[in-house]
Amino acid sequence: MSTSSSKFPILLCVMVSTISFGTSSSTRGSFLLCLSYHSNISIPVYTPIDFNYSTILHSTIGNLKFNSSTALEPFIIVTPLKESHVQTTVFCSRKHGIHIKVRSGGHDFEGLSYISDVPFIIVDLFNLRQINVDVENKLAWVQSGATTGELYYKIAQKSNTLAFPAAICTTVGIGGFISGGGYGSMLRKYGTAGDNVIDARIVDARGRILNRKSMGESLFWAIRGGGGGSFAVVLSWRIKLVSVPPTVTIFSVDKTLEKGATSLVHKWQEVAHKLPHDLFIALFLGVVNSTLEGEKTILTTFFSLFLGDTKKLQTVMTERFPELGLEGKDCTELSWIQSVLFFEGLPTNSSLDILRRPQQKSYFKIKSDYVKEPISKIGLEKIWASRLENEHVFMVFVPYGGRMSEIAESETPFSHRNGTLFKIIYSVNWDENQVTKSQKYVNQIRRMHEFMTPFVSKSPREAYVNYRDLDLGEISKNGTASYAQAKVWGGKYFKRNFDRLVYVKTKVDPDNFFRSEQSIPSIAH
Ligand SMILES: Cc1cc2nc3c(=O)[nH]c(=O)nc-3n(C[C@H](O)[C@H](O)[C@H](O)COP(=O)(O)OP(=O)(O)OC[C@H]3O[C@@H](n4cnc5c(N)ncnc54)[C@H](O)[C@@H]3O)c2cc1C
Ligand SMILES: *[C@@H]1O[C@H](CO)[C@@H](O)[C@H](O)[C@H]1NC(C)=O
Ligand SMILES: *[C@@H]1O[C@H](CO)[C@@H](O)[C@H](O)[C@H]1NC(C)=O
Ligand SMILES: *[C@@H]1O[C@H](CO)[C@@H](O)[C@H](O)[C@H]1NC(C)=O
Ligand SMILES: *[C@@H]1O[C@H](CO)[C@@H](O)[C@H](O)[C@H]1NC(C)=O
Ligand SMILES: *[C@@H]1O[C@H](CO)[C@@H](O)[C@H](O)[C@H]1NC(C)=O
Ligand SMILES: *[C@@H]1O[C@H](CO)[C@@H](O)[C@H](O)[C@H]1NC(C)=O
Ligand SMILES: *[C@@H]1O[C@H](CO)[C@@H](O)[C@H](O)[C@H]1NC(C)=O
Repeated sequence: MSTSSSKFPILLCVMVSTISFGTSSSTRGSFLLCLSYHSNISIPVYTPIDFNYSTILHSTIGNLKFNSSTALEPFIIVTPLKESHVQTTVFCSRKHGIHIKVRSGGHDFEGLSYISDVPFIIVDLFNLRQINVDVENKLAWVQSGATTGELYYKIAQKSNTLAFPAAICTTVGIGGFISGGGYGSMLRKYGTAGDNVIDARIVDARGRILNRKSMGESLFWAIRGGGGGSFAVVLSWRIKLVSVPPTVTIFSVDKTLEKGATSLVHKWQEVAHKLPHDLFIALFLGVVNSTLEGEKTILTTFFSLFLGDTKKLQTVMTERFPELGLEGKDCTELSWIQSVLFFEGLPTNSSLDILRRPQQKSYFKIKSDYVKEPISKIGLEKIWASRLENEHVFMVFVPYGGRMSEIAESETPFSHRNGTLFKIIYSVNWDENQVTKSQKYVNQIRRMHEFMTPFVSKSPREAYVNYRDLDLGEISKNGTASYAQAKVWGGKYFKRNFDRLVYVKTKVDPDNFFRSEQSIPSIAH
């Protein structure tokens, strides 16, 4: 710490909260004392005896599967109010051998930002959510604790022709989202969120605040897609805003098997990744009753964002995908920010304040796949049969191509680029009344994923790191993956970029200070 110790003014100050220092011989006490010594003003911290601890802990546990987890709870939650608080926390944690988990929006599918099998603390960034939009230069600084919806809201307040290619869902935390690449309905036009980051401020494992210049290009490369929780605490991101027309068009068209869904999905595979970059057509595959007697069928919903007006959209569709039979009445023209509401499943005339709401919590398990070869009609029919057997599994097909194919695989750690036709999202959700059936639902999604093996990418079978899935490889009991263990899931998430991530990690955090069940391992020791 020789270079950075001068950054920590040695001033004793008052601690917030009711912590007693009677047990100061314990790690906890020494850690808290360290925080108080090194912070100019008090850093808000909460221990399990504090009144607000439980509220804060549970506030952004997005997956209720983990709400009453039997895993250990953090022995302290630190809620930094400014950048130096994060520095102090990293410095003191390292000094006292404390394991930290960083949480921004708490959307991690496996709860890796708030549960752990080994004793730990949470550094919760919810107070660091400032957003500064610079319309003139089409740039913004966004702090990691903000949500994608807050970012959209702030941009929309200043301009209806600027946007950012972030998540389809608006409650996602910027910190984890951009760390894993991050995509939304403009990925075919503008690539991932990580592709649109031009600078960042981080606290590294030594407690230093660094920007792009001082961290160097290899670490800057790693944080834009290598997954959260491995390299640093990212405080804020400098992002390039992108242009959108004042009027965009959305549509949503339903087709059941009886209405020719199989041929349409087959054709969609051929065209969706080759369409003009302005057009995004994704598919939802649900199971619905086809008869009053309860016979089931597959309902395919084609839902779309077009960065242009209806007239132009219809011209493109007539030329490229006439089979869908899109009509003017299926289309709605609105502003880009209203299209965000549509994709969130909200009325498009809702007040924009709703973009700042917290996550709708539920119980879920999610998996991902990438498809590189079109699936035959016979293959699709087999998939429908499996869907009907595993009816709680919901599937979404997200088209790739466009800008996604133009960016080299090595440009950022996000490696699912040219040659990818589409991504598959599998999800199962349940509520508190169905908890006894949760194992059944999880088994369904695992079966469905297994069933899809012949139809999806192979060697490796790719997966999206932001769709964190602990089924993808063995998990170390001590919460720290070995290189051999990590190579299994790391190869799926990052392909050839995995070894480069290990190289960067070994250089910037040789002691593996930032670690989790699925973090990039250091091979320094
Ligand atoms: C309802 C829902 C909708 C989603 N929609 C999309 C979507 O449209 N597109 C998409 O790409 N993904 C989507 N995701 C996945 C989402 O991108 C990931 O779960 C992402 O990691 C969430 O970020 P977070 O900050 O909310 O999560 P957290 O749980 O806070 O963090 C996730 C991981 O990143 C680490 N981390 C968090 N903050 C930081 C930081 N500041 N610095 C370093 N590491 C950090 C955590 O330790 C953890 O390992 C969705 C998830 C949910 C639950
Ligand atoms: C410490 O507090 C003083 C006075 O409030 C302020 O001027 C200074 O910037 C603070 N230093 C840090 C590192 O926060
Ligand atoms: C606890 O939470 C309440 C409500 O959010 C807030 O008013 C209060 O200041 C908090 N108390 C502490 C000690 O942080
Ligand atoms: C999550 O757990 C906390 C603490 O046990 C509880 O207060 C809260 O109601 C739970 N949330 C939900 C949505 O079940
Ligand atoms: C589908 O049919 C079953 C059996 O008749 C019935 O229980 C169920 O409510 C129906 N679902 C819907 C969405 O209509
Ligand atoms: C939105 O539109 C619906 C139907 O057109 C209407 O019933 C509702 O009141 C509108 N809501 C708002 C907030 O304007
Ligand atoms: C993508 O790959 C295909 C097939 O290998 C190639 O023909 C095409 O030029 C590539 N596209 C881009 C934009 O690099
Ligand atoms: C954790 O376990 C892995 C293998 O399971 C091992 O390689 C590693 O050294 C262990 N780390 C610690 C800190 O015990």
